[in-house]
Amino acid sequence: MLFDSHAHYDDPKFDPDRDTLLSSMNKNGIELIVNPGSDLKSSKASVALAKKYDFIYAAVGVHPHDAKSMNGETISELALLAREKKVVAIGEIGLDYYYDNSPRETQKYWLIQQLKLAKRLRLPVIIHDRDAHGDCMDILRREKPEKCVLHSFSGSVEMAEEAVHLGMMLSISGPLTYKNNHKTVEVVKRIPLEFLMIETDSPYLPPEPHRGERNSSLNVKYVAQKIADLKGISFEEVSQQTNLNARNFFSIR
Ligand code: NI
Repeated sequence: MLFDSHAHYDDPKFDPDRDTLLSSMNKNGIELIVNPGSDLKSSKASVALAKKYDFIYAAVGVHPHDAKSMNGETISELALLAREKKVVAIGEIGLDYYYDNSPRETQKYWLIQQLKLAKRLRLPVIIHDRDAHGDCMDILRREKPEKCVLHSFSGSVEMAEEAVHLGMMLSISGPLTYKNNHKTVEVVKRIPLEFLMIETDSPYLPPEPHRGERNSSLNVKYVAQKIADLKGISFEEVSQQTNLNARNFFSIR
């Protein structure tokens, strides 16, 4: 049974068939899903999904794209939301220098504030890092979150090694299956399975052979299979170990 550590079922792309799709997860081998928020509205929607579906857990947080909309009150509201049942992390939070939708200094400031919030609440953090590896690692080295996963990991082998030495987890997504992604292939070969989780980031980042389509947790098996192929181990071993890793990380029994 697979654990999709990162999917966004509050996304409007799921409006036409959300309930039908989610009802099909269990019989298709998807046991658990963590649904992170990307702003206050979607954090609330994540909590609502977790209430509705026993196999969905929520994270609450504001994505770097929306850092410019944050203020002290946003942090208070997140703190309140984080007390709801089945909220297992603060996320997704981080830095995105690819889109630069918020000024970089603003992104850094609110990443740090949300890391401090997670520490106060003793919750793990889910980190989004796109084209911001240097600044992101600088902040994480300084703030030292208790538990941290680098979601949809896209860094080098060197960065991956440093991250696991600092006690972080790496979550691997669909781009591992893309033909020219040698970097993530090397990361998966080098880093022990005990430090890996798997995810879809649905509705984004569909793996091969579903590129161009809307992604869903039903496709997380392609990521697991690719990891199994690269490590020369069975699909079952990858699914069991990554499931256990994610349960431990998010403290889900
Ligand atoms: Ni995401």
